[in-house]
Amino acid sequence: MPSISPPSFTLRRLFLICVASTSFSSSIYAQDLTADQVSTVKQRLQEGAQQSWELGTRAQALTEYDSPSYSVTNGTKVPPPTSSPPGSLDEVFNITKTVLEARTKAFANVTGPQPLVANDGSSADPASIGVAVLLANWTGQGSTDGVDYAGAAQSQLEYLLTQVPRTSDGAISHRVSEVQLWSDFVYMVPPFLAYYGVLSNNQSLVSEAYNQVKLYRQYLGDSSAGGIWKHIVMGSTVPPDPGHWSTGNGWAAAGMLRVQGTIQNSPFPNNFKTEMSDLSNWVTEILNGMYPHLRSDQLFLNYADNNSTFSDAASTALLASAAYRHALLNKVHTQLPNAERSRLALVSPTNSSNSSLGHFDQNMWLTPVVNPHQFGIQGSESPEAQAFVVEMQAAWGDWVRAGSPGASSGTQVRASVGSLSLALLAVIYSVIR
Ligand SMILES: *[C@@H]1O[C@H](CO)[C@@H](O)[C@H](O)[C@H]1NC(C)=O
Ligand SMILES: *[C@@H]1O[C@H](CO)[C@@H](O)[C@H](O)[C@H]1NC(C)=O
Ligand SMILES: *[C@@H]1O[C@H](CO)[C@@H](O)[C@H](O)[C@H]1NC(C)=O
Ligand SMILES: *[C@@H]1O[C@H](CO)[C@@H](O)[C@H](O)[C@H]1NC(C)=O
Ligand SMILES: *[C@@H]1O[C@H](CO)[C@@H](O)[C@H](O)[C@H]1NC(C)=O
Ligand SMILES: *[C@@H]1O[C@H](CO)[C@@H](O)[C@H](O)[C@H]1NC(C)=O
Ligand SMILES: *[C@@H]1O[C@H](CO)[C@@H](O)[C@H](O)[C@H]1NC(C)=O
Ligand SMILES: *[C@@H]1O[C@H](CO)[C@@H](O)[C@H](O)[C@H]1NC(C)=O
Ligand SMILES: *[C@@H]1O[C@H](CO)[C@@H](O)[C@H](O)[C@H]1NC(C)=O
Repeated sequence: MPSISPPSFTLRRLFLICVASTSFSSSIYAQDLTADQVSTVKQRLQEGAQQSWELGTRAQALTEYDSPSYSVTNGTKVPPPTSSPPGSLDEVFNITKTVLEARTKAFANVTGPQPLVANDGSSADPASIGVAVLLANWTGQGSTDGVDYAGAAQSQLEYLLTQVPRTSDGAISHRVSEVQLWSDFVYMVPPFLAYYGVLSNNQSLVSEAYNQVKLYRQYLGDSSAGGIWKHIVMGSTVPPDPGHWSTGNGWAAAGMLRVQGTIQNSPFPNNFKTEMSDLSNWVTEILNGMYPHLRSDQLFLNYADNNSTFSDAASTALLASAAYRHALLNKVHTQLPNAERSRLALVSPTNSSNSSLGHFDQNMWLTPVVNPHQFGIQGSESPEAQAFVVEMQAAWGDWVRAGSPGASSGTQVRASVGSLSLALLAVIYSVIR
């Protein structure tokens, strides 16, 4: 029986530990959607997006993922260049062209300011397409396709500012028929006002974007629930929904980050220091209020603090995207480990021997999700959820390419354990061979 000398035994054991830890760390680090999977997610999004806010959210998600330097969330200058937009924006411009052609038909005999989409019960949702319409105008799409993007954007702006009912202190209603405030509004309207303000060099319009967010937070922010937001207050056409709808908190956080990004990348960020700091604090407030409610499955419930509601992957993806953006824009990293955990839960295979993903069906629809057209019940095939996945992938990718700032207990650590193990492996192998 050959004797094993103690040092070599230790070395062999170390070697095995290193092999195990390297494959462990790389199997965790590899957990990401493939390019093909993301492209299928986008395909479902294209097929599903019909409603005004679905089109606006799709346009934003595609811009963030395919053309980051044209997105206000990426740290590149606003306004962008006027000439030679990249081909990666073609799908976004196809959305704006299709929407405006329908608008022209619908309002053929109508005068006065009108929204971007006709016959919408929401005064806010059509404006979600406004940023993309402004971008289409800015980059000269109208000179080749003859569509009046600037006119439509201006009409949408005037409609919001002069035709929509408001609270006595000036919050613009989310609904056309009466004053009703929804958390969704913060994603649909203030980013449009801010982008319009920067592109037209109108700082009072930028202030108005901030002011609307501030008013909405005053009505919807719920200090008795740790600062997370209620969904709907006032009015009655849709029954008010004082619950803390998780997607609504995601809409609010993501909308605020877009407003802040627009200002920060504008020519005049120094005139809005207080406003930017408020917006950043209000995003922190939502993320810090929401993440303690993350469940053991790493998903949020449809209503974050109501145990009789179901797990919802849609809001989970949107809030994760906000956490990565907050880290990039404001260097606030508190909730990154939680965002990483939930992203991994969404994109990881359930079964190590095949590639099926636990939170996507076989056609790459995210699941389980809230019904996108009935916020209290579970649904399937949600276009907005597909857009949130694209936004999460875009934000995570930007964050990784920026060097994963603040990843103190997430993948960064595992990655460095992995590379340390590889280095040790090489050393040990050379010793024991
Ligand atoms: C442009 O949009 C229309 C309407 O949604 C769609 O039918 C068409 O396939 C799109 N074209 C491209 C190139 O994306
Ligand atoms: C606009 O008016 C023309 C002429 O009166 C009519 O033929 C057309 O149907 C109207 N279009 C709409 C969308 O109402
Ligand atoms: C449309 O774009 C042009 C630059 O291409 C710009 O001068 C004009 O102000 C823009 N209009 C709006 C409403 O943004
Ligand atoms: C700037 O936007 C405001 C709306 O907030 C509008 O009343 C004002 O006329 C605009 N100023 C200019 C110079 O266009
Ligand atoms: C919690 O959710 C259930 C199911 O949707 C609902 O009936 C109940 O009213 C909610 N509770 C609270 C406190 O909102
Ligand atoms: C909801 O569930 C969590 C985790 O299971 C538990 O800690 C909490 O007390 C529950 N809350 C209510 C109101 O039942
Ligand atoms: C892959 O694994 C999942 C979950 O274990 C299972 O439902 C599915 O049938 C498997 N697919 C194939 C092609 O074997
Ligand atoms: C995992 O996938 C393999 C290959 O598709 C399949 O044979 C096996 O049954 C799956 N395991 C579980 C637990 O579903
Ligand atoms: C902007 O996007 C590029 C390309 O994805 C990425 O490398 C960079 O980190 C992003 N920057 C920020 C601040 O998001």
